[in-house]
Amino acid sequence: MDIISKAEQFAKAKMEGYDGGHDWLHIERVRNLARTINNEEGIADDFLLDLAAILHDVNDSKFRISGDGYSALESFLEDNGLSEVKTRIIDIIKNISFSNKNKTGDVADPLLMVLQDADRLDALGAIGIARAFSYGGFRNNPIYIPNGEAGGREGTTIHHFYEKLLKLKDMMNTSTGKRIAEERHTRMKVFLEQFYSEWGEIF
Ligand code: ADP
Ligand code: NI
Repeated sequence: MDIISKAEQFAKAKMEGYDGGHDWLHIERVRNLARTINNEEGIADDFLLDLAAILHDVNDSKFRISGDGYSALESFLEDNGLSEVKTRIIDIIKNISFSNKNKTGDVADPLLMVLQDADRLDALGAIGIARAFSYGGFRNNPIYIPNGEAGGREGTTIHHFYEKLLKLKDMMNTSTGKRIAEERHTRMKVFLEQFYSEWGEIF
C-alpha cells in the first residue's frame, strides 16, 4: 500500500470518535481546498501538503483523552520512512490551530500557510455554519441567548461566530485563501442577518 493510502487508514481510525464537523469528510474537503490553493499559489510540495492535510486532525485537543498524544503519529511517520519530515509535519499540525498560542518550528513554512488557510476555509461559509452547529450540538451548547448585543451570550454557537469565525478572513495567509474566505464570510453575514431578523432583532 502507498504512503497516502496508509496515512488515510491511520487518520480514519484516529478520528472515529470525533463530531460530524470533524469527521473524515472534513479531511477530504481540506485536502481539496489545499490543492486548489496550492494550484494557484504553487508554494508547497504537493505530496507533503496532501500528507499533512490527511494527518492534521489526528490529535485534536478537543477530542484528546489525555497526554500530548503525538507518539502514535511519530511512530507512523517513522515506520513509513518519513523520519526526515517528522518534526516538520508535527510542527505544522501543532501550529495550525486557531487556539494554539505557543507556536513552534518554522511559522512561515509554506506547507503551513496553505494548509492553515484550507482548514480555516472549511470553518467558513455554509459548511462552516453547519459545522459550528454540529460542534455546538455535540457540546450541548445553546444555539443563541440574546443579551442585547450582536452574538448574544458567550458559550453559544452564535457567539462562536464573533469570537472566531468572523475574524478568520483577516487572518488568511495566501491571497487565494483570502479571496475564497471573503466569499464565505459574506455568506455567514447574510445568515446572521436572517437569523436576527427571524428572532425579531436588528444589529
Ligand atoms: P481550532 O482551530 O481551535 O483547533 P478548529 O479549527 O478545530 O478549532 O475548530 C473546528 C470546527 O469546530 C470549526 O468549524 C469551528 O467553528 C467549530 N468549533 C470550535 N469551537 C466551537 C464552538 N465553541 N462552537 C461552535 N463551533 C465550534
Ligand atoms: Ni481540521
